[in-house]
Amino acid sequence: REGLPLAGKKVVVTAGGTVERIDPVRYISNDSSGKMGFALAKAAQELGAEVTLLAANTQLAPPAGVRVVSVESAQDMYEAALAEWSDTDILVKAAAVADYRPKSAETQKIKKTGDTLTLELVKNIDILETLGKQKTKQFLIGFAAETNDLEKNALDKLKRKNCDLLVANDVTREGAGFGTDTNLVNIYDQAGLVQSLPLLSKEELGFVILELAAQRLPGASK
Ligand code: PMT
Repeated sequence: REGLPLAGKKVVVTAGGTVERIDPVRYISNDSSGKMGFALAKAAQELGAEVTLLAANTQLAPPAGVRVVSVESAQDMYEAALAEWSDTDILVKAAAVADYRPKSAETQKIKKTGDTLTLELVKNIDILETLGKQKTKQFLIGFAAETNDLEKNALDKLKRKNCDLLVANDVTREGAGFGTDTNLVNIYDQAGLVQSLPLLSKEELGFVILELAAQRLPGASK
């Protein structure tokens, strides 16, 4: 695999939507199918990297040659990312991570008693922000799923989470975001807009993102 753009590099990709337990049979999650993350893992593998995919709540078959670690909650995903962290060269955070979880997961199924039921939620750790603060050699690629003010919110996340690249999708656009086989994104770096891409399949987009990262790794020949 020598000669490939990501030969000798370790790429960790997160995919899917985290699951935050309410009780043994119920949970809070979101519409992420895992397609974007799985496409990125496949592209990284084909570009020569050693790939670990941290996958939450997805039915997709793992790409050939990729090590898959199944996780459930945001906390699980954080711990799994941390376990890979020290020798990670590129971390791609395509997962849709729940910002909040139920304060306590009941060990028994909640019974239907009152007319209303209040769930108290507490904030989850922000995985990307936490790792962004402690990065050394790691190249961090964040995603942003937005419904408004795409550029402003994307640049704010890029800076706050100390990302090298940020891939922003306006999930209200046709063919973009959750569940689709395609995506429509802008890519930003700390200096601003890098690329405004047309509608691409998630598979094609996976290659675009990782080729861009490969060109920007320390020691890459431009
Ligand atoms: O899986 P698919 O169906 O193919 O859909 C793809 C996608 C829409 C999920 C994907 O393209 C995408 O946009 N993923 C990020 C979704 C998201 O949670 O965005 P956000 O703006 O809430 O978070 C910003 C970034 O911080 C993301 O990289 C996210 O992984 C990360 N994050 C967020 C919250 C948190 N607690 N920890 C995090 O690390």
